[in-house]
Amino acid sequence: MNDVVLRVCDVRAGYTELDVLRGVSIEVRRGELVSLIGPNGAGKSTVLKAVMGLLRPRAGRVEFDGTDITGWRADRVVRRGLAYVPQGRIVFPQMSVQENLEMGAFTVDAPARVRVALERVYALFPRLADRRRQLAGTMSGGEQQMLAIGRALMIEPRAILLDEPSLGLAPLFQDLIFEKIAELRTLGLTLLMVEQNAARALELSDRGYVLELGRNRYEGPGAALLGDPRVRALYLGG
Ligand SMILES: Nc1ncnc2c1ncn2[C@@H]1O[C@H](COP(=O)(O)OP(=O)(O)O)[C@@H](O)[C@H]1O
Ligand SMILES: [Mg+2]
Repeated sequence: MNDVVLRVCDVRAGYTELDVLRGVSIEVRRGELVSLIGPNGAGKSTVLKAVMGLLRPRAGRVEFDGTDITGWRADRVVRRGLAYVPQGRIVFPQMSVQENLEMGAFTVDAPARVRVALERVYALFPRLADRRRQLAGTMSGGEQQMLAIGRALMIEPRAILLDEPSLGLAPLFQDLIFEKIAELRTLGLTLLMVEQNAARALELSDRGYVLELGRNRYEGPGAALLGDPRVRALYLGG
């Protein structure tokens, strides 16, 4: 069995003729929580888009669960079991919590499986269960982020990519979101998380990668990166 769930191999990609990613390589093994950190504009979100098929790599290779998915369309990638929570906690504001979650299950045909997924999400986020009839647009930022994560879980993914899950949230909700991410890991999910809160992310993570200017800069166990003076000086404010 291939223990590497996600493998990004020397990927180059960009939005114009310029390469934003100039050779990025990342591996996430089964059950790991891996963080991708680095300064603003380093290309972290672009890596996730290139994995998800929202941006086509110009070179390199993306593998998910042993299958070469390089250049696949996003919906096909999702159907394979890779979920994505984009930056900015995007929810359908005029739809209820439950309707938002049901929308997330677009790859799941059997109604019974949708119900099971829904109950799992509600068990993980009791706050969403309490608010299942509430319009998503009327909830706080933290609740909307829970909903965005919950919606991604509705496909019953094997792995999940999270882009800046704590960004812009009140401290209490940041704590809660990080707690839930750790819980997802203990439930056996494989996670790759982009975070501006590098210290917090690395504390929770098995391993981390530091990107700079579209390239790998440092990598290692979360705790080792956290304690590395070069990383601290560059990204954690010394
Ligand atoms: N849609 C886009 N069109 C053109 N350039 C973009 C687009 N999105 C991001 N970029 C550029 O790509 C670079 C990397 O961006 P991004 O991956 O969002 O960085 P990060 O997530 O690490 O902050 C930046 O220089 C940014 O301006
Ligand atoms: Mg980003």
